Amino acid sequence: MAKIKIRKAVFPAAGLGTRFLPATKAIPKEMLPVVDKPIIQYGVEEAVAAGCEQIIIVTGRGKTVIEDHFDISVELESQLESRGKYDLLAMARQISNLGRVAYIRQKEAMGLGHAVLMARDLVGDEPFAVILPDDVIDATTPCLKQMIDVFDDVQSSILATQVVDGPGISAYGVIDGKPMAKNPRVLEVKNLVEKPKMSEAPSKNAIIGRYILTPRIFELLEKTPLGAGGELQLTDGIRSLLEHEKVYGFSFEGRRYDAGDKLGFLKATVEFALKRDDLGEEFREWLQELSPLKV
Ligand code: UTP
Repeated sequence: MAKIKIRKAVFPAAGLGTRFLPATKAIPKEMLPVVDKPIIQYGVEEAVAAGCEQIIIVTGRGKTVIEDHFDISVELESQLESRGKYDLLAMARQISNLGRVAYIRQKEAMGLGHAVLMARDLVGDEPFAVILPDDVIDATTPCLKQMIDVFDDVQSSILATQVVDGPGISAYGVIDGKPMAKNPRVLEVKNLVEKPKMSEAPSKNAIIGRYILTPRIFELLEKTPLGAGGELQLTDGIRSLLEHEKVYGFSFEGRRYDAGDKLGFLKATVEFALKRDDLGEEFREWLQELSPLKV
């Protein structure tokens, strides 16, 4: 049978971003910049680098600047051109050329599962990726590309995981699974436990914001009752999927930052700034000056 390719990536971006108030009162969390790039752009670039041809962004009220960001800005481009700022012009054009982008609205923030369900018609009947834009991942091989390589082999749903030590595990969905003999980074999922107490967590493998899902998830989400917080939870839908199909966990290589959280955002900003050719050296010197005095 011909192998199926992952062509579409869904970006749920309709949440309220309450952990980042007051900044997110009028600015979408997804547009907060890590150094100088909105966090959603990191995810879109990752999807394009992994071979996705269509980007589907689920937006909501107050999120239209996301659409403007990935659109052509005629005024900006003509200004940059007339001033001879060709590097900046190329950068602006590169953003609007990042694949085909489609938008769909989620009228109310009714949960991640509900946001994914909004993309049903645009995705159609094929497996697809989901990228949570606030999870920014620094990896030599883009995280989604690593997952697609596993998908090429297993042709089933895959959930990205990272090891979380200590009580922090209670903030995540946690995988109960068995490592595959041929690749111990891949686990066959037996069960998912949402936000367990540390003592009850079946493992340290926490689910983070990258998924490859088969289209059956849509019909299951349609039937899934509202869960924690009165929201339609993606994890509940994936638990139903497990009753019908194999689902795998995948421990990717790379570093993930929860940029939707203030501390995670600060860590991402520092680490990405230190890696920049144009900023890193001076920034490192400044941090070194600062640390004996203030830390
Ligand atoms: P989060 O739970 O991190 O986002 O969801 P949130 O609800 O916006 O943030 P807090 O917790 O209030 O600070 C992960 C991703 O799912 C999207 C969010 O926009 C975010 O990118 N999401 C969440 C939706 O698109 N719709 C929802 O109903 C909920």
